[in-house]
Amino acid sequence: MALKLKEIQAPVASEMIEFEQKFRSLMKSKVFLIDKIMSYIVKRKGKQMRPMFVFLSSGLCGNISERTYRGASLIELLHTASLVHDDVVDDSNFRRGFFSINALWKNKIAVLVGDYLLSRGLLLSVDHEDYDLLKIVSEAVREMSEGELLQMAKARSLDITEDLYYEVIRQKTASLIASCCAVGAASADRDKETVMRMKEFGLHVGMAFQIKDDLFDYGSHEIGKPLGIDIKEKKMTLPLIYALQQSSGSEKRRIKRIVKSNSQNQKKIQEVIDYVKTSGGIEYAETVMHDYYNKSTQILNEFPDSDYKTSLGQLVKFTIERSK
Ligand code: IPE
Ligand code: IPE
Ligand code: MG
Ligand code: MG
Repeated sequence: MALKLKEIQAPVASEMIEFEQKFRSLMKSKVFLIDKIMSYIVKRKGKQMRPMFVFLSSGLCGNISERTYRGASLIELLHTASLVHDDVVDDSNFRRGFFSINALWKNKIAVLVGDYLLSRGLLLSVDHEDYDLLKIVSEAVREMSEGELLQMAKARSLDITEDLYYEVIRQKTASLIASCCAVGAASADRDKETVMRMKEFGLHVGMAFQIKDDLFDYGSHEIGKPLGIDIKEKKMTLPLIYALQQSSGSEKRRIKRIVKSNSQNQKKIQEVIDYVKTSGGIEYAETVMHDYYNKSTQILNEFPDSDYKTSLGQLVKFTIERSK
C-alpha cells in the first residue's frame, strides 16, 4: 500500500501541529502587502517533508527541543524562499497546485518576497543565538545558489554530463535536505560525528529526491506544478542526459537542436519526451535513484531502533515513491 505522509509522521504528529502554528506566526508582517502574500503562501503549504526530516532526525538522535522547532522553521522558511525565487528563475506560473507568486504579483515582488522570507529565517536563528544551526543551513543555502547558477550556466550550452548533473542536484537540492538531518542531530546536541553522519544520510536522500522530481517532468499525472517545463527551460536532467549518451552523433545533434530551439513547441517537446522514453532514460534514472535510496538506508541502519527510525525509513521510501 502506498505510504501516506500523515501516517509516516505519527511519532512527531504533535510536533508538526505545533510547528505549523509557530511557522505561521513567523511569517506575519505589519506591511499589508507582505502579510497578504504570506497568508497566500501559508494557505498553500507544501508537503513539509523538510521539517519532518528535522523532527524525526532529532528524535532519532535522542531529543526534540525548542531548538529543533527553530531549526525546522529556519529550513522551511529558506526552502519557501528558494521556491519563490525558483519560479521567477524558471519562469513558472504554477506551484503547489495554484498560481505562483510571480504569476500573481510579478517578478519584482516575488524577488523581494523571497528576500523577506530569507531575512525572517536569519533573524529567527540570530535572535536565539542558534549559530551552530545557522552555520549548517547557511552553507546549504550557499550551495543551493551555486547549484542553481551552475545549472543555468550549463543549460545554455546543453553540454551537461552525468557527473555534472549529480553535482548540480547535490548542490541545489540534496544539500538542504542534508542540512535538515544535520540540524535535527545538532539540535539534539549530538557530537560532531553523528551530525556529519546524519548529513551524509540526508545527502543521499536529497539526491534521490531530486531525481524523483526530475522524473515527474516526463510523467503525465497532476503534480501541482507544470510538466515538461525542464525541456522548455532547456534543463537537461538525468533521463535525457542518459538517452543522449546512448545515441549516435546525428541523433544526438537532432535532439539537442530541438531542445535548443523549439522550447515553446509542444509537439517538439513531446518528441524529446518520447525519445527519452524509448532510449531507456526513465529506467536508468530510476535505477540511480534506488542506489541513492539504498545508500541512505544503510546509514540509517547504523542507528538504534526506535519509532523515529522506522518513520524516517518510511519517509525516505516516500521520497522515491511519492506522486507529487
Ligand atoms: C520542491 O520541493 C523543490 C525541489 C527541491 C524539487 P518539495 O517537493 O519538497 O516542495 P513542497 O514544499 O512540497 O511544495
Ligand atoms: C528545485 O529546482 C528548486 C530549488 C532547489 C531551489 P527545480 O526548478 O528543479 O524544482 P521545481 O520542479 O521547480 O520544484
Ligand atoms: Mg529551477
Ligand atoms: Mg523550478
